[in-house]
Amino acid sequence: MTVSNLLSYALLALVASSQPILIKRDDEFPTSIGYLGTFTTGSAPFLAQTDDAAAVTGTPTSSYTMPQPLETNIQGSDSSAGDKNIFELMGTYSPYHVPSSPWDNVYDYALPNQCRIVQAHSLSRHGSRYDTSESKLPAWIKANPGFTASGDLEFLNTWSLNNGLAELGTYGNQQLFDQGVNMFFRYGALLNYTSNPDYKKVVARATSLERVTSSAEYFLNGFFGLNWQNFADLEVQIQQTGFNSTLYPDSICPAKTISEADDISSSFEHTYLHSTKKNLNNLVSGAQLSNKEVFSMQRLCTFETNTLGYSKFCNLFTQEDWQNWEVLKAYKYYYENGYGNPTSKARGIGWIDEFASRLTGKPFNTSKLTSQNLTFDSDSSYFPVDQNLYLDFSHDTVIVNILTALDLDIFKVNYQVDKKQGTIQSDNDNWRVSDIVPFAGHLVFEVIECDEPVPSDRSAESQQGQTIKYVHALLNDRTLPLDQRSISSCAERADGWCEFNTFVSYLESLHDEAMFDYSCYGSYSSDPVTNGVPSTS
Ligand SMILES: *[C@@H]1O[C@H](CO)[C@@H](O)[C@H](O)[C@H]1NC(C)=O
Ligand SMILES: *[C@@H]1O[C@H](CO)[C@@H](O)[C@H](O)[C@H]1NC(C)=O
Ligand SMILES: *[C@@H]1O[C@H](CO)[C@@H](O)[C@H](O)[C@H]1NC(C)=O
Ligand SMILES: *[C@@H]1O[C@H](CO)[C@@H](O)[C@H](O)[C@H]1NC(C)=O
Repeated sequence: MTVSNLLSYALLALVASSQPILIKRDDEFPTSIGYLGTFTTGSAPFLAQTDDAAAVTGTPTSSYTMPQPLETNIQGSDSSAGDKNIFELMGTYSPYHVPSSPWDNVYDYALPNQCRIVQAHSLSRHGSRYDTSESKLPAWIKANPGFTASGDLEFLNTWSLNNGLAELGTYGNQQLFDQGVNMFFRYGALLNYTSNPDYKKVVARATSLERVTSSAEYFLNGFFGLNWQNFADLEVQIQQTGFNSTLYPDSICPAKTISEADDISSSFEHTYLHSTKKNLNNLVSGAQLSNKEVFSMQRLCTFETNTLGYSKFCNLFTQEDWQNWEVLKAYKYYYENGYGNPTSKARGIGWIDEFASRLTGKPFNTSKLTSQNLTFDSDSSYFPVDQNLYLDFSHDTVIVNILTALDLDIFKVNYQVDKKQGTIQSDNDNWRVSDIVPFAGHLVFEVIECDEPVPSDRSAESQQGQTIKYVHALLNDRTLPLDQRSISSCAERADGWCEFNTFVSYLESLHDEAMFDYSCYGSYSSDPVTNGVPSTS
């Protein structure tokens, strides 16, 4: 047997065995480092008992499909055919779904035969979790012991709050496991880990927060299997105020509070549910529900669905209530993490500078230090730049900060607010936070190498010319256009790709634009902004 045969034999054995054979590097890549954040494990669901979406009496008129595992047969109280699924209108609390319409009407193309995917960079949000703040409804129930509810609200007489808080839910585990499986099918061959005796473990990165680390572990189980530690090292970065991490830049550079936007969104919360509140109060005697409780009920629908599979609160709301929920979430998000907040770009730029290093295979340039932790980024074992596949795990806020620091035009919005009417109008249909950062949302960049250029109108697979590389982005499994409609220096292309060198130069130009020091530490007004950085005039 030759040495290389022996090695392949050892690797085959390794692949077939569930026992770790390679030396574990737990000491160098510890996954139990603390800083998990605070969370409470909720009590277990009982969907077989609580789900009443199927007919309870009479002869059913249509067949009923059991939840898989979430009960999504429920729609708005006044839903009609053609209405958007309410579970895709829950803002950042929407369970993962592929957006029902493409980003800016760009359709996905298959890879021409003359091209190969040579690299993929992925950044995932953690999966469905419990609410991070305590619901306001139990306090109302306690304060109104004499209330009685009837009709669709009758369940409130015996309802109690599930005590789970902030923890990744069981459905979240599944979302990330499934995403790992999907990514294995899509990109598994980029790692070549089953046939290459020189395989070097891929470094994946997550923050220490329980829901983020757990999400990464479920993903890696889905991608590699239970023995994933033979093939990947998980780098856990501390998520805690005062610590640096590009996967949680808020720790050293928080969002600025934009009081104007906060005021508008809280007053909107108090108006859009007006008629639903009236209807619900008709079902309550001995007490009155205010907007605050009705808004809490809508929020409970989203979290009970994500963590318990079903919520009787969901169909108390109309289709319009759900559309308004989505509009409000998108508006708040714009001013907290998108172009409306002056620290958005500063928070996103750290990951983008790392991304540029990884794309070009150059070590991190320490003179571009922003939210990076140099203990990691100045060491090639923790910040390798020679991988074919990069896997990062983080939060919704960070993905939106990164999209903002990328300065993509397709996500810029002009909001029209009518304070008297309590209406918020956006002029941009792409800014849908439920489609941008649902639970388990993910952003992927592919580097594509072609023997010849691919015509920008995709009228043919190739055209005369030199070898060329492109970057193709996907946001939740749909092409995110990087071409001229998003980035003015990139050419106009039907497939939304951008030529690699143009894209890299563009990325490198973003660092100064983000004005990290001034944005994070400068003193300036907290007025809303339009470009994700403080206005300098
Ligand atoms: C996978 O590894 C084998 C063995 O080293 C090598 O011959 C092959 O070219 C590699 N494939 C890719 C896609 O890197
Ligand atoms: C950088 O990361 C290391 C390893 O987790 C940690 O010990 C150190 O405190 C971190 N420094 C900052 C500034 O976050
Ligand atoms: C690192 O970044 C600085 C500031 O942008 C730049 O002047 C320098 O040329 C860069 N160094 C390398 C090696 O790219
Ligand atoms: C953390 O980030 C700050 C701000 O960029 C920087 O001054 C500090 O050196 C960083 N610390 C580490 C360990 O990277």
